[in-house]
Amino acid sequence: MELPCNSSRIINIGKLFRAYSLIAWRGGAGKKKCAAYLRVVFPGKKFSEPSIGRVLVMPEFRKAGLGKKLTAEAIGHIAKEYPNTAIRISAQQHLEQFYSKFGFKTVSKPYKEDGIPHIEMLR
Ligand SMILES: CC(C)(COP(=O)(O)OP(=O)(O)OC[C@H]1O[C@@H](n2cnc3c(N)ncnc32)[C@H](O)[C@@H]1OP(=O)(O)O)[C@@H](O)C(=O)NCCC(=O)NCCS
Repeated sequence: MELPCNSSRIINIGKLFRAYSLIAWRGGAGKKKCAAYLRVVFPGKKFSEPSIGRVLVMPEFRKAGLGKKLTAEAIGHIAKEYPNTAIRISAQQHLEQFYSKFGFKTVSKPYKEDGIPHIEMLR
């Protein structure tokens, strides 16, 4: 669900909803396409801390910096909405390096989520 990105409204909406989405669009009028997507999950929903999930860049837009850009944007949103609050994520294990470059540290042993090895990371 896409929600307006205004901090005070987001905090209030968070009491009712689970998350909001950031979406990167590419292409002009009539050809607009979702290129990348992620969710910012409100604290107290998946974890007690705010979280980032469902990070996805469509195959044709990968390896061009979009995943990093959207993740950085999500971290920026959370820092503004919840200053001085940790962010906890459940990351696919093979992306440990990807998230560690944003300052996330691994805080769990690997576990399976939807059959895929994951790790919890904290920033
Ligand atoms: C992972 C994903 C979001 C990366 O998006 P992207 O736009 O291709 O990545 P960027 O171009 O912004 O970043 C590239 C960096 O990520 C790393 N990376 C990208 N895909 C990777 C993968 N499958 N495994 C390990 N590292 C990967 C690259 O090595 C590169 O690192 P560098 O900056 O040190 O050179 C994208 O491949 C994707 O949507 N994958 C499928 C869904 C998924 O696994 N989501 C993550 C859920 S936790």
